[in-house]
Amino acid sequence: MTAPRRPRRGGGGVLLELTVDHENPEPLHLQICDQIRQAVAAGRLDAGARLPATRTLAEQLGVARSTVIHAFTLLREEGYLSARMGAPTRIVNQPPDAFLAPPPAAPVHAPRVGGPGLSVRGRMIHAEGGRLMVTERPARPFRIATPAVDQFPMAVWERLCSRVVRTMPAPMMSYGDPAGLRPLREAVAAYVAVSRGIGCSADQVMITAGTQQAFTLVADLTTDPGDQVWVEDPGYYAMRGALRAAGLGLAHLPVDREGLDPVAGRRLAPDARLAVVTPSSQMPLGLQMSERRREELLAWARDAGAWILEDDYSAEFRYGSRPAPTLYAADQGRHVLYAGTFSKSLFPSMRLGYLVVPPDLVDAFSRARQYADFHPPFLEQAVMALMLSEGYFERHVRKLRAVYRERRNLLADRLRSRLGGLVRVEPLEAARHLLVWLPPGWSDVDTAARCTAAGVEVLPLSAFTVRATVPPALVLGYSGLRDIEIIEGADLLTMAIG
Ligand SMILES: Cc1ncc(COP(=O)(O)O)c(C=O)c1O
Repeated sequence: MTAPRRPRRGGGGVLLELTVDHENPEPLHLQICDQIRQAVAAGRLDAGARLPATRTLAEQLGVARSTVIHAFTLLREEGYLSARMGAPTRIVNQPPDAFLAPPPAAPVHAPRVGGPGLSVRGRMIHAEGGRLMVTERPARPFRIATPAVDQFPMAVWERLCSRVVRTMPAPMMSYGDPAGLRPLREAVAAYVAVSRGIGCSADQVMITAGTQQAFTLVADLTTDPGDQVWVEDPGYYAMRGALRAAGLGLAHLPVDREGLDPVAGRRLAPDARLAVVTPSSQMPLGLQMSERRREELLAWARDAGAWILEDDYSAEFRYGSRPAPTLYAADQGRHVLYAGTFSKSLFPSMRLGYLVVPPDLVDAFSRARQYADFHPPFLEQAVMALMLSEGYFERHVRKLRAVYRERRNLLADRLRSRLGGLVRVEPLEAARHLLVWLPPGWSDVDTAARCTAAGVEVLPLSAFTVRATVPPALVLGYSGLRDIEIIEGADLLTMAIG
């Protein structure tokens, strides 16, 4: 192999650290071009810099002069070198942007070529059913789980944000407590005591990235891969996904008008380590778990030495009667972990929720959080603490409750007046969606598809099931819709199924 040759002197121009490799299959003139382009991009060759004469450079590199002329001609055509005849060759003032720009990002869904693939667990997570929850498009009637953005107290939020930023102490710009910001933990402890009768200290409150992170933290700390967990069927798909990603086997328990059935659970998966339930508003049936079922569930947890995760995601939204006491309060937090979220009362992209854990588990949960993502972002926590402690949050929730009740009634009335003879509308006491029960024998999947084609977004109830068979019904969200959208949406839905 011929040793690469370097130019000794600039030959009247700049010193160029060029080399050519005669064994390299790339033509010599292209090797020269590549190196000059790279030198420009890296700032080693400034605009206006004079290059050596072609004869000098050819001599220094040990190549024919025509090779250097060929390279310079190409670089002139590309816009790197000045093109004035008879004048010394220089780098132009503005080399082509395209070369200086960062390389284009790899396409997100580029197929993998070579290299290792996903693990068995990775493939299982990838294959987990359910859509990716990206809802950046404006909500159409009747998408579920959308906040009433028109009601959000933006001016208050803005004021509190700027207050926090203006007064942010320097230590807050470093790492914080994995369990969350102390003032927010205190505010949450005070809030759940008043609103949900939960007696706990601020030390027991962990701030989470929404309930979704609570599912993962609880699965990681109270179960081992391969363990069984009781879940509701129909139920919340993102909860199922988190538990399966933690390596758990899911026992899908039937749900009726009294809630999850622990007797079926004892029969199907007596050794389960955990049960995840929505007792104050079963997702998606919107019903409260009966007193009898609560007692049966707590009795099972005591007998089996198992945990219950109480997902109280919709605690704020009950339109008539007061909610039943929490499982946490009934059990004094011995077997129950309690999860709440600000996704429903404020907005989900904030990613803030909370978990109440027994005092002796706080340290373990803090470590798990640390190794997951250290802690929640400071700014949102600090603003949320002020929202709670200064009363803005409760005021907002009170207003939302009234707004949602009106929206629910408007939708239910409109549907009943248009479709009353055909379907049964169930407004639900404790939810932000309602149910439309279809005539027996109808397919809720086909009916939902007809509605979607007509311009409204509805989910079939069966989409929430895994093994259960449910009567045909549609799930309609209303919380994020203005009156006119509700009316127009109801009329479109009427045309689609009426
Ligand atoms: C049953 C249930 N739990 C919890 C949540 C809230 O999740 P997060 O707090 O992660 O936004 C939802 C949201 O739709 C839900 O349906």
